[in-house]
Amino acid sequence: LSNGELIKWNGKTDEVYSTISSTDEYQPTLLGTVPHMDKGSALEVLQSACDAYAKGQGKWPTMKVADRISCMENFVEQMKTKREQVVKYLMWEIGKSLPDSRKEFDRTVEYIQDTIEDYKQLDRDSAKFQEKDGVYAHIRRGPLGVVLCLGPYNYPLNETFALLIPAIIMGNTVVFKPAKHGVLLLSPLLEAFQQSFPKGVVNVIYGRGREVAAPIMQTGRIDVLALIGNSKSAIALQDQHPYKNRLRLVLGLEAKNPGIILPDADLDLAVEECISGTLSFNGQRCTALKILYVHEEVQEEFNKRFAKRVDELKYGNPWAENVMLTPLPEPNKPQYIQELIDDATEKGAKIINERGGATSENYIFPAVLYPVTEDMRVYKEEQFGPVIPIKPFNSIEQLLDEIADSNYGQQVSLFGTGIDRIAPLIDTLVNLVCRVNLNSSCQRGPDVFPFTGRKDSAVGTLSVHDALRSFSIRTFVASKDK
Ligand code: G3H
Repeated sequence: LSNGELIKWNGKTDEVYSTISSTDEYQPTLLGTVPHMDKGSALEVLQSACDAYAKGQGKWPTMKVADRISCMENFVEQMKTKREQVVKYLMWEIGKSLPDSRKEFDRTVEYIQDTIEDYKQLDRDSAKFQEKDGVYAHIRRGPLGVVLCLGPYNYPLNETFALLIPAIIMGNTVVFKPAKHGVLLLSPLLEAFQQSFPKGVVNVIYGRGREVAAPIMQTGRIDVLALIGNSKSAIALQDQHPYKNRLRLVLGLEAKNPGIILPDADLDLAVEECISGTLSFNGQRCTALKILYVHEEVQEEFNKRFAKRVDELKYGNPWAENVMLTPLPEPNKPQYIQELIDDATEKGAKIINERGGATSENYIFPAVLYPVTEDMRVYKEEQFGPVIPIKPFNSIEQLLDEIADSNYGQQVSLFGTGIDRIAPLIDTLVNLVCRVNLNSSCQRGPDVFPFTGRKDSAVGTLSVHDALRSFSIRTFVASKDK
């Protein structure tokens, strides 16, 4: 999609294979192809976004708020009709379970609708006159320019749209590159974009990051880099931009969210929350609990119950009933997880659940590792997959030091019941991360709440409310005449 046209691609293409198999033996199915674009074609797409922002008096950024809203309403209505197609792609392309795939779609529709409402409110609140010392200012909130938007494979619809939608509605124009896995699910929505927005507002590129996204950055014409993914890609892309100070960043990056189980925790609750926290979508969530700190007093009991529950989890294709564990879309992931397990076991940890580490072609059964120590790779690396390190602790002060030393600072889950003990702990933790979840697992939603992180976890804040601000700037006209 470029310059308002769905271009028939005659060049080189990339094949997209399924993550799941239609047979018991892992046999990926060819689902479709996408353009393998090169620098030249990517720059043409960029030109269309730049023209739509600045040329023709920048029709989109200067369009009346009510008209921009009606474009977005039109889009969401058309999008709703594509639910089952998109859900199917989510299952086949990234192996997301049927309930979670439907949730991702419905949550995205709700996100767009809430964004529209919030935008109306924002416009009412931000468009105002202010006077000081005889200067009258007519203040508004306006767009930043041209946005390069890259989404992740684990939420290829929802998180990508959590960047795209606020960027568009604020009057920016966008070049958008879908994730490598979770790329075809965009196809059913391309027409809706084309029909709902003026030409050049939403543009799509496909291909390798270094062949298409890097050259776009090198032009220096990107005003905002909006990316959800890993820091390495974010830094590599920023480095391509010739005028870094001009670049606004909206980044959702890695996390190593700890779950802390205190001696007075309700263990049944803690185990259940840690199961979903560590393993929903096989742990492929930036918000997943990626290390559990269990107090020595309850460690034996917690480990026993937790390991048993992990072994009870059902593995299968996404549409099978009650399936929590599904095939992994990244071909090298099982091997990577195995390396983390080998490293930890060589250094003294044990796999404490019976099924832990059992592999098939594109899957590895979650391994619970205990006791994990600081010299192990799994202690530091963001595993983003089915391996769960457990580290015992007996000193809260020492634990807080460890969390403070982490390179990440997104969220924490705290399990305990004694309010006198918990309250000061929450006060400290909330200054080390951005969200403390009390007796519940970490998560991004509800999407109206701020979603961000400290250190290497995020730059800027997402959420229905905050993202509109992240993708805009306050501007004003000043005059001595009222
Ligand atoms: O991968 C990171 C996502 O923001 C996680 O979102 O907590 O709703 O699963 P979630």
